Amino acid sequence: MIALYPGSFDPVTLGHVDMVRRVAGLAEQVIVAVLDNPHKTPLFSAGERMGLLRGALGDIPGVEVAAFSGLLAAYARQRQVTAIIRGVRDGEDWAGEARYAWHNRLLDGGVETLLLPASPAFSHISSRIVREAAAHIYRLGLADGPLRQLVPPEVCAALMEKYITKG
Ligand code: PNS
Repeated sequence: MIALYPGSFDPVTLGHVDMVRRVAGLAEQVIVAVLDNPHKTPLFSAGERMGLLRGALGDIPGVEVAAFSGLLAAYARQRQVTAIIRGVRDGEDWAGEARYAWHNRLLDGGVETLLLPASPAFSHISSRIVREAAAHIYRLGLADGPLRQLVPPEVCAALMEKYITKG
């Protein structure tokens, strides 16, 4: 199986890393695809997000980090993947992802989506919470200990660096 694991990854979290590790155990190849959306202003550029992903996933065999823009279904067809993989943390994720999966099947080439439940240890983590926590920790000059439970160490450092330059 060639698995396509797409996302914003702004930034990559421990939940994403767990998901890629588990998918890599099922698939011959995992393409981790970063959405590069010119209409959105993410905290980290697509290049930065890819660099952080490569650092976090470097030891997992069969993993490629790539970027895509436009329709996910079109990218899936272009890369001839077996399936798109999305993680689901709760019922809310399930409802949204089931709908996305159906749209992606309708849109371009009929690609299937497989939904994998997030590990309970990581199912409270989201990139948005990570960004908010990092901004708070930086503003109040707190220790970054809590952040280390959400993201790989190099991401923790990149977040602090980002807020130093961003203010
Ligand atoms: O990490 P995210 O933000 O939950 O990832 C969302 C993502 C990138 C998978 C989704 O926004 C996406 O597929 N965007 C590409 C545009 C697209 O194909 N939209 C139609 C989906 S029905």
